[in-house]
Amino acid sequence: MKSIMEDCLRRFLDKGDRMTYEHSLRVGHLARIVAAHVSGWTEEEKEAFVAGCCIHDIGKRMIPLEILHKPTVLTSEEWRSMRRHPEIGMRLLHINGYMHPPVADIVQYHHERWDGLGYPHGLKGSEIPEWARVCSVIDAFDTMVSNRPYRRGLSVEQAKEELRRQSGTQFDPDAVELFLNVPFESFRAATEFCETYPFPGSSRWKRNLETNVHEAQMNATAWRRSGQ
Ligand SMILES: [Fe+2]
Repeated sequence: MKSIMEDCLRRFLDKGDRMTYEHSLRVGHLARIVAAHVSGWTEEEKEAFVAGCCIHDIGKRMIPLEILHKPTVLTSEEWRSMRRHPEIGMRLLHINGYMHPPVADIVQYHHERWDGLGYPHGLKGSEIPEWARVCSVIDAFDTMVSNRPYRRGLSVEQAKEELRRQSGTQFDPDAVELFLNVPFESFRAATEFCETYPFPGSSRWKRNLETNVHEAQMNATAWRRSGQ
């Protein structure tokens, strides 16, 4: 699981997509904190959930940077292309022989909505796999509080309010409750790692992951040099 995470993150960096790279890191990290507060998941399941959240946008690898980083509103054609990233993600997992079901479910279903108005399949309520429902809340929270080229992020309080407002329409109410019941001090302390995040500072976790990614790159280069 670690290797698919590192490979996914490294490719975002190689492509010059720092925004998705950092978003993926933060969603993975928030997922780790949320998972620590879930009773009833084994340690293995928690790790798989974190991995799935970290690679949830793996399909964005194939979406052009001009669309991903566009500083203005997307055209309908560009939206159509953007909305294909869950299914592209599934194909990438398939090509890599990585179809661990709950993890693949996160990749495929994290843009489905509780009210059935999401994509790509328009699944509704409990038709959407549970892990994808929880990931969708974490993903939305991170997206709301992050600065984007075209807007400033919301405050944490505004984002929490928005989650409450959309509970039962966009989001599974249980997933919102699970997320909001995590003491926010643990997020505040643990998310001090990203320039684009509303909390200042740095994080050992991010540095560790970047070191791992760097090592993976070095290993890949050495491997290529050795002609294998
Ligand atoms: Fe996504």
